[in-house]
Amino acid sequence: MTSLTVFYTTLFYFATLVLIGGVAYRIYEYSRTPAPLKIPTTPAPTSNAGVVVRMAREVVLFESLFKSNKWIWIFGWLFHVGLAVVLLRHVRYFQEPAWFWVEFIQPFGKYASFIMVAGLAGLWARRFLVDRVRYISTPSDHLMLALLVAIGLSGMMMTFVSHTDIVALKAFMLGLMTFDFQPMPADGVLMVHLGLVALLMIIFPISKLLHAPGIFFSPTRNQADNPREQRHLAPWAAALERNKS
Ligand code: HEM
Ligand code: HEM
Repeated sequence: MTSLTVFYTTLFYFATLVLIGGVAYRIYEYSRTPAPLKIPTTPAPTSNAGVVVRMAREVVLFESLFKSNKWIWIFGWLFHVGLAVVLLRHVRYFQEPAWFWVEFIQPFGKYASFIMVAGLAGLWARRFLVDRVRYISTPSDHLMLALLVAIGLSGMMMTFVSHTDIVALKAFMLGLMTFDFQPMPADGVLMVHLGLVALLMIIFPISKLLHAPGIFFSPTRNQADNPREQRHLAPWAAALERNKS
Protein backbone atom coordinates (compact mmCIF):
# COMPACT_ATOMS: atom_id res chain seq x y z
CA MET A 1 0.00 0.00 0.00
CA THR A 2 1.26 3.48 -0.82
CA SER A 3 1.45 6.08 1.92
CA LEU A 4 -1.33 7.96 0.09
CA THR A 5 -3.66 4.97 0.46
CA VAL A 6 -2.70 4.49 4.10
CA PHE A 7 -3.35 8.18 4.81
CA TYR A 8 -6.78 8.32 3.16
CA THR A 9 -7.84 4.95 4.56
CA THR A 10 -6.97 6.04 8.10
CA LEU A 11 -8.53 9.46 7.55
CA PHE A 12 -11.84 8.00 6.38
CA TYR A 13 -12.10 5.47 9.20
CA PHE A 14 -11.36 8.22 11.71
CA ALA A 15 -13.82 10.65 10.11
CA THR A 16 -16.56 8.01 9.95
CA LEU A 17 -16.08 7.11 13.62
CA VAL A 18 -16.20 10.77 14.66
CA LEU A 19 -19.27 11.44 12.51
CA ILE A 20 -21.30 8.43 13.60
CA GLY A 21 -20.17 8.45 17.23
CA GLY A 22 -20.46 12.24 17.51
CA VAL A 23 -23.91 12.54 15.96
CA ALA A 24 -25.19 9.54 17.96
CA TYR A 25 -23.93 11.20 21.16
CA ARG A 26 -25.54 14.53 20.23
CA ILE A 27 -28.85 12.80 19.53
CA TYR A 28 -28.59 11.07 22.89
CA GLU A 29 -27.98 14.48 24.53
CA TYR A 30 -30.87 16.08 22.67
CA SER A 31 -33.20 13.25 23.64
CA ARG A 32 -32.35 13.81 27.31
CA THR A 33 -32.62 17.60 27.28
CA PRO A 34 -35.64 18.58 29.38
CA ALA A 35 -38.53 20.34 27.66
CA PRO A 36 -40.30 21.58 30.79
CA LEU A 37 -42.89 23.72 29.04
CA LYS A 38 -45.49 23.28 26.34
CA ILE A 39 -44.21 25.73 23.73
CA PRO A 40 -45.30 24.75 20.20
CA THR A 41 -45.23 27.77 17.91
CA THR A 42 -48.88 28.49 17.20
CA PRO A 43 -50.96 27.97 15.15
CA ALA A 44 -49.86 24.41 15.82
CA PRO A 45 -51.42 21.01 15.14
CA THR A 46 -53.42 19.51 18.01
CA SER A 47 -52.58 15.84 17.32
CA ASN A 48 -49.39 13.82 16.94
CA ALA A 49 -50.24 12.99 13.32
CA GLY A 50 -50.54 16.71 12.71
CA VAL A 51 -47.10 17.25 14.26
CA VAL A 52 -45.59 14.71 11.85
CA VAL A 53 -47.12 16.52 8.88
CA ARG A 54 -45.95 19.91 10.15
CA MET A 55 -42.42 18.60 10.73
CA ALA A 56 -42.37 17.11 7.23
CA ARG A 57 -43.42 20.48 5.76
CA GLU A 58 -40.70 22.18 7.80
CA VAL A 59 -37.96 19.76 6.72
CA VAL A 60 -38.94 19.42 3.07
CA LEU A 61 -40.19 22.93 2.32
CA PHE A 62 -38.56 25.06 5.08
CA GLU A 63 -42.03 26.45 5.80
CA SER A 64 -41.21 28.77 8.69
CA LEU A 65 -38.21 30.22 6.86
CA PHE A 66 -40.49 30.85 3.87
CA LYS A 67 -42.83 32.82 6.12
CA SER A 68 -40.02 34.88 7.59
CA ASN A 69 -37.65 35.73 4.73
CA LYS A 70 -38.15 34.93 1.05
CA TRP A 71 -34.54 35.64 -0.02
CA ILE A 72 -32.97 33.38 2.56
CA TRP A 73 -35.62 30.80 1.81
CA ILE A 74 -34.94 30.68 -1.91
CA PHE A 75 -31.16 30.40 -1.52
CA GLY A 76 -31.31 28.13 1.53
CA TRP A 77 -33.88 25.82 0.00
CA LEU A 78 -32.09 25.61 -3.36
CA PHE A 79 -28.80 24.82 -1.63
CA HIS A 80 -30.31 22.02 0.47
CA VAL A 81 -32.24 20.49 -2.43
CA GLY A 82 -29.11 20.64 -4.62
CA LEU A 83 -27.07 19.05 -1.83
CA ALA A 84 -29.64 16.28 -1.35
CA VAL A 85 -29.68 15.37 -5.06
CA VAL A 86 -25.85 15.53 -5.24
CA LEU A 87 -25.55 13.22 -2.22
CA LEU A 88 -28.08 10.77 -3.65
CA ARG A 89 -26.03 10.67 -6.85
CA HIS A 90 -22.98 9.83 -4.73
CA VAL A 91 -24.61 6.62 -3.48
CA ARG A 92 -23.19 4.87 -6.55
CA TYR A 93 -19.66 5.10 -5.11
CA PHE A 94 -20.71 2.88 -2.24
CA GLN A 95 -22.59 0.04 -3.90
CA GLU A 96 -22.13 -2.45 -6.73
CA PRO A 97 -24.38 -2.77 -8.64
CA ALA A 98 -26.12 0.57 -8.03
CA TRP A 99 -29.88 0.66 -7.38
CA PHE A 100 -32.14 1.59 -10.26
CA TRP A 101 -33.05 5.01 -8.89
CA VAL A 102 -29.39 5.84 -8.24
CA GLU A 103 -28.67 5.21 -11.93
CA PHE A 104 -31.73 7.24 -12.84
CA ILE A 105 -30.74 10.40 -10.96
CA GLN A 106 -27.13 10.51 -12.23
CA PRO A 107 -27.69 13.27 -14.82
CA PHE A 108 -29.83 15.30 -12.39
CA GLY A 109 -27.20 14.98 -9.67
CA LYS A 110 -24.57 16.33 -12.00
CA TYR A 111 -26.46 19.56 -12.65
CA ALA A 112 -27.84 19.84 -9.11
CA SER A 113 -24.28 20.83 -8.17
CA PHE A 114 -24.85 24.21 -9.88
CA ILE A 115 -28.00 24.77 -7.84
CA MET A 116 -26.17 23.77 -4.67
CA VAL A 117 -23.25 26.14 -5.24
CA ALA A 118 -25.51 28.98 -6.44
CA GLY A 119 -27.57 28.62 -3.26
CA LEU A 120 -24.41 28.70 -1.15
CA ALA A 121 -23.17 31.77 -3.02
CA GLY A 122 -26.46 33.57 -2.28
CA LEU A 123 -26.32 32.64 1.40
CA TRP A 124 -22.72 33.73 1.61
CA ALA A 125 -23.34 37.04 -0.21
CA ARG A 126 -26.02 37.81 2.37
CA ARG A 127 -23.43 37.53 5.14
CA PHE A 128 -21.40 40.30 3.49
CA LEU A 129 -24.09 42.49 1.97
CA VAL A 130 -26.80 42.67 4.62
CA ASP A 131 -25.48 44.85 7.45
CA ARG A 132 -27.35 43.25 10.31
CA VAL A 133 -26.44 39.74 9.12
CA ARG A 134 -22.79 40.71 8.68
CA TYR A 135 -22.79 42.03 12.24
CA ILE A 136 -23.89 38.70 13.74
CA SER A 137 -21.83 36.46 11.42
CA THR A 138 -19.05 34.54 13.14
CA PRO A 139 -15.95 33.03 11.53
CA SER A 140 -17.58 29.60 11.78
CA ASP A 141 -20.57 30.81 9.72
CA HIS A 142 -18.17 31.80 6.95
CA LEU A 143 -16.05 28.68 7.32
CA MET A 144 -19.02 26.32 6.95
CA LEU A 145 -20.05 28.04 3.75
CA ALA A 146 -16.46 28.16 2.46
CA LEU A 147 -16.00 24.46 3.16
CA LEU A 148 -19.20 23.48 1.36
CA VAL A 149 -18.39 25.74 -1.60
CA ALA A 150 -14.88 24.22 -1.82
CA ILE A 151 -16.30 20.67 -1.71
CA GLY A 152 -18.86 21.59 -4.36
CA LEU A 153 -16.34 23.27 -6.68
CA SER A 154 -13.74 20.50 -6.34
CA GLY A 155 -16.45 17.95 -7.14
CA MET A 156 -17.58 19.96 -10.16
CA MET A 157 -13.96 20.19 -11.35
CA MET A 158 -13.92 16.41 -11.59
CA THR A 159 -17.34 16.16 -13.19
CA PHE A 160 -16.99 18.91 -15.75
CA VAL A 161 -13.28 19.76 -16.20
CA SER A 162 -10.71 17.10 -15.39
CA HIS A 163 -12.21 13.64 -14.90
CA THR A 164 -10.92 11.38 -12.21
CA ASP A 165 -10.68 7.59 -12.34
CA ILE A 166 -14.17 6.75 -11.06
CA VAL A 167 -13.63 2.98 -11.33
CA ALA A 168 -10.52 3.15 -9.14
CA LEU A 169 -12.19 5.56 -6.70
CA LYS A 170 -15.18 3.25 -6.42
CA ALA A 171 -12.90 0.26 -5.77
CA PHE A 172 -11.19 2.30 -3.04
CA MET A 173 -14.51 3.24 -1.38
CA LEU A 174 -15.97 -0.28 -1.61
CA GLY A 175 -12.65 -1.61 -0.27
CA LEU A 176 -12.98 0.64 2.80
CA MET A 177 -16.41 -0.80 3.47
CA THR A 178 -15.38 -4.44 3.08
CA PHE A 179 -11.88 -4.14 4.62
CA ASP A 180 -10.44 -5.24 1.28
CA PHE A 181 -8.09 -2.29 0.86
CA GLN A 182 -7.57 -0.90 -2.65
CA PRO A 183 -5.24 1.92 -3.79
CA MET A 184 -6.47 5.50 -3.50
CA PRO A 185 -6.19 7.13 -6.97
CA ALA A 186 -3.38 9.74 -6.93
CA ASP A 187 -5.42 12.57 -8.41
CA GLY A 188 -4.92 16.05 -6.93
CA VAL A 189 -8.51 17.29 -7.25
CA LEU A 190 -9.91 14.05 -5.85
CA MET A 191 -7.48 14.29 -2.93
CA VAL A 192 -8.70 17.81 -2.20
CA HIS A 193 -12.38 16.78 -2.54
CA LEU A 194 -12.03 13.81 -0.21
CA GLY A 195 -9.81 15.67 2.26
CA LEU A 196 -12.45 18.40 2.59
CA VAL A 197 -15.26 15.85 2.86
CA ALA A 198 -13.38 14.13 5.71
CA LEU A 199 -12.98 17.52 7.41
CA LEU A 200 -16.72 18.14 7.03
CA MET A 201 -17.46 14.74 8.60
CA ILE A 202 -15.12 15.47 11.52
CA ILE A 203 -16.51 18.91 12.35
CA PHE A 204 -20.16 17.96 11.76
CA PRO A 205 -20.81 16.83 15.38
CA ILE A 206 -19.32 20.04 16.82
CA SER A 207 -20.82 22.51 14.36
CA LYS A 208 -24.02 24.30 13.44
CA LEU A 209 -24.59 21.56 10.88
CA LEU A 210 -26.18 19.69 13.78
CA HIS A 211 -29.34 21.57 12.86
CA ALA A 212 -30.05 18.58 10.59
CA PRO A 213 -30.77 16.11 13.42
CA GLY A 214 -31.52 18.95 15.85
CA ILE A 215 -34.68 20.20 14.15
CA PHE A 216 -36.48 16.99 15.11
CA PHE A 217 -35.88 17.77 18.78
CA SER A 218 -37.08 21.37 18.67
CA PRO A 219 -39.97 21.67 21.15
CA THR A 220 -41.51 24.59 19.26
CA ARG A 221 -41.88 22.24 16.30
CA ASN A 222 -42.32 18.75 17.74
CA GLN A 223 -45.02 19.42 20.33
CA ALA A 224 -48.77 19.17 19.74
CA ASP A 225 -50.90 22.10 20.90
CA ASN A 226 -52.93 20.04 23.40
CA PRO A 227 -52.17 21.41 26.91
CA ARG A 228 -55.86 21.48 27.86
CA GLU A 229 -56.50 17.90 26.82
CA GLN A 230 -53.29 16.47 28.25
CA ARG A 231 -51.27 17.87 31.14
CA HIS A 232 -47.67 18.42 30.09
CA LEU A 233 -45.14 17.14 32.62
CA ALA A 234 -41.40 16.94 31.99
CA PRO A 235 -40.00 13.60 33.23
CA TRP A 236 -38.21 15.23 36.19
CA ALA A 237 -41.39 17.06 37.22
CA ALA A 238 -43.33 13.82 37.00
CA ALA A 239 -40.74 12.16 39.24
CA LEU A 240 -41.07 15.00 41.79
CA GLU A 241 -44.83 14.55 41.80
CA ARG A 242 -44.51 10.85 42.39
CA ASN A 243 -42.21 11.47 45.36
CA LYS A 244 -44.66 13.94 46.93
CA SER A 245 -47.56 11.51 46.95
C1 HEM B 1 -32.95 17.66 8.00
C2 HEM B 1 -32.13 18.26 7.17
C3 HEM B 1 -31.92 19.75 7.12
C4 HEM B 1 -32.81 20.77 7.28
C5 HEM B 1 -34.30 20.69 7.57
C6 HEM B 1 -32.06 22.02 7.15
C7 HEM B 1 -32.62 23.29 7.27
C8 HEM B 1 -31.93 24.48 7.27
C9 HEM B 1 -32.50 25.77 7.48
C10 HEM B 1 -33.98 26.06 7.72
C11 HEM B 1 -31.48 26.67 7.47
C12 HEM B 1 -31.61 28.15 7.80
C13 HEM B 1 -31.25 29.13 6.77
C14 HEM B 1 -31.10 30.48 7.50
O1 HEM B 1 -32.04 30.90 8.17
O2 HEM B 1 -30.02 31.06 7.39
C15 HEM B 1 -30.26 25.95 7.23
C16 HEM B 1 -29.01 26.51 7.13
C17 HEM B 1 -27.88 25.82 6.75
N1 HEM B 1 -27.78 24.47 6.46
FE1 HEM B 1 -29.26 23.11 6.67
N2 HEM B 1 -30.75 21.74 6.90
C18 HEM B 1 -30.60 20.37 6.86
C19 HEM B 1 -29.45 19.66 6.62
C20 HEM B 1 -28.22 20.23 6.30
C21 HEM B 1 -27.01 19.51 5.97
C22 HEM B 1 -26.90 17.96 5.93
C23 HEM B 1 -26.04 20.44 5.70
C24 HEM B 1 -24.59 20.29 5.29
C25 HEM B 1 -23.87 19.22 5.30
C26 HEM B 1 -26.63 21.75 5.89
C27 HEM B 1 -25.96 22.96 5.76
C28 HEM B 1 -26.47 24.19 6.11
C29 HEM B 1 -25.70 25.40 6.17
C30 HEM B 1 -24.20 25.54 5.88
C31 HEM B 1 -26.57 26.41 6.58
C32 HEM B 1 -26.23 27.86 6.91
C33 HEM B 1 -26.33 28.78 5.76
C34 HEM B 1 -25.84 30.14 6.17
O3 HEM B 1 -24.88 30.28 6.90
O4 HEM B 1 -26.46 31.10 5.73
N3 HEM B 1 -27.96 21.59 6.25
N4 HEM B 1 -30.57 24.61 7.11
C1 HEM C 1 -16.66 9.96 0.67
C2 HEM C 1 -17.51 10.76 0.13
C3 HEM C 1 -17.38 11.32 -1.30
C4 HEM C 1 -16.77 10.79 -2.39
C5 HEM C 1 -16.04 9.46 -2.54
C6 HEM C 1 -16.94 11.75 -3.48
C7 HEM C 1 -16.47 11.59 -4.77
C8 HEM C 1 -16.79 12.40 -5.83
C9 HEM C 1 -16.38 12.16 -7.20
C10 HEM C 1 -15.51 11.01 -7.67
C11 HEM C 1 -16.93 13.14 -7.96
C12 HEM C 1 -16.78 13.31 -9.48
C13 HEM C 1 -17.94 12.65 -10.18
C14 HEM C 1 -17.76 12.53 -11.67
O1 HEM C 1 -16.70 12.82 -12.20
O2 HEM C 1 -18.75 12.13 -12.32
C15 HEM C 1 -17.69 14.01 -7.09
C16 HEM C 1 -18.41 15.10 -7.49
C17 HEM C 1 -19.07 15.95 -6.63
N1 HEM C 1 -19.12 15.86 -5.24
FE1 HEM C 1 -18.37 14.37 -4.13
N2 HEM C 1 -17.65 12.84 -3.00
C18 HEM C 1 -17.94 12.60 -1.67
C19 HEM C 1 -18.65 13.42 -0.83
C20 HEM C 1 -19.25 14.61 -1.18
C21 HEM C 1 -20.00 15.47 -0.30
C22 HEM C 1 -20.25 15.20 1.20
C23 HEM C 1 -20.42 16.53 -1.04
C24 HEM C 1 -21.23 17.74 -0.63
C25 HEM C 1 -21.20 18.30 0.54
C26 HEM C 1 -19.95 16.33 -2.40
C27 HEM C 1 -20.19 17.19 -3.46
C28 HEM C 1 -19.87 16.92 -4.78
C29 HEM C 1 -20.33 17.72 -5.90
C30 HEM C 1 -21.19 18.98 -5.81
C31 HEM C 1 -19.84 17.12 -7.06
C32 HEM C 1 -20.06 17.58 -8.51
C33 HEM C 1 -21.39 17.09 -9.02
C34 HEM C 1 -21.47 15.58 -9.19
O3 HEM C 1 -20.73 15.04 -10.02
O4 HEM C 1 -22.23 14.95 -8.45
N3 HEM C 1 -19.22 15.17 -2.44
N4 HEM C 1 -17.59 13.53 -5.79
